[in-house]
Amino acid sequence: MTDHWVKLELDVTAFDASRFEGHLERCRDAGIRLTTLADLGDGPRQRRALYELNKECSADIPDRGAFYTFDEYLAHRIDVPSYDPRGVVIALDGDDWCGLSATSDWRSHGFAFNEMTGVRAAYRGRGISLAMKTFGMGFAGLCGVDRVRTIHHPANTGAIAMNRRLGYADADWD
Ligand SMILES: CC(C)(COP(=O)(O)OP(=O)(O)OC[C@H]1O[C@@H](n2cnc3c(N)ncnc32)[C@H](O)[C@@H]1OP(=O)(O)O)[C@@H](O)C(=O)NCCC(=O)NCCS
Repeated sequence: MTDHWVKLELDVTAFDASRFEGHLERCRDAGIRLTTLADLGDGPRQRRALYELNKECSADIPDRGAFYTFDEYLAHRIDVPSYDPRGVVIALDGDDWCGLSATSDWRSHGFAFNEMTGVRAAYRGRGISLAMKTFGMGFAGLCGVDRVRTIHHPANTGAIAMNRRLGYADADWD
């Protein structure tokens, strides 16, 4: 584990979604549908699919180590006050789940927090993560906050570059 995490924050009021309209369009043209877990139905089957996708994508996070068991995942990520299925964006290729971007509600602390963004390896490099995060940006407003935070291992250069592209800047918090 590193002790030099890269802490990033986005000022949502300065976010210009029109810069990423092309990414949303490219997804649509490729038959990739963006939706949320709330709209898919936040039931046991959907939670299991979310877990499997999160686990698969997390294997590529530097130093991530062993992923949660399903029960641990439910305990740490779902059965917690910050969880809201409206903040979980899913990218679908037909019935296949190919990407997720999960943001949780930390309004009591004044921000939303992007817990995980992941795209299955075969789908990477097509702008799907930028499209998912743009699609899900309204969640911050639902939480009544104007900041989204995220944190990365310094070796996760792809994810850091992706967030900087969206306008995330270095931030510091304890
Ligand atoms: C990080 C990840 C979500 C990016 O998904 P993606 O759909 O391939 O990303 P996009 O195609 O939308 O790329 C967005 C931008 O990110 C940057 N980027 C993405 N992958 C990159 C890489 N491997 N190296 C450098 N920059 C990269 C680029 O700036 C890119 O924009 P550009 O193509 O216009 O230059 C994906 O690689 C992944 O699932 N990784 C494993 C899980 C993970 O580490 N998640 C982050 C921790 S929460």
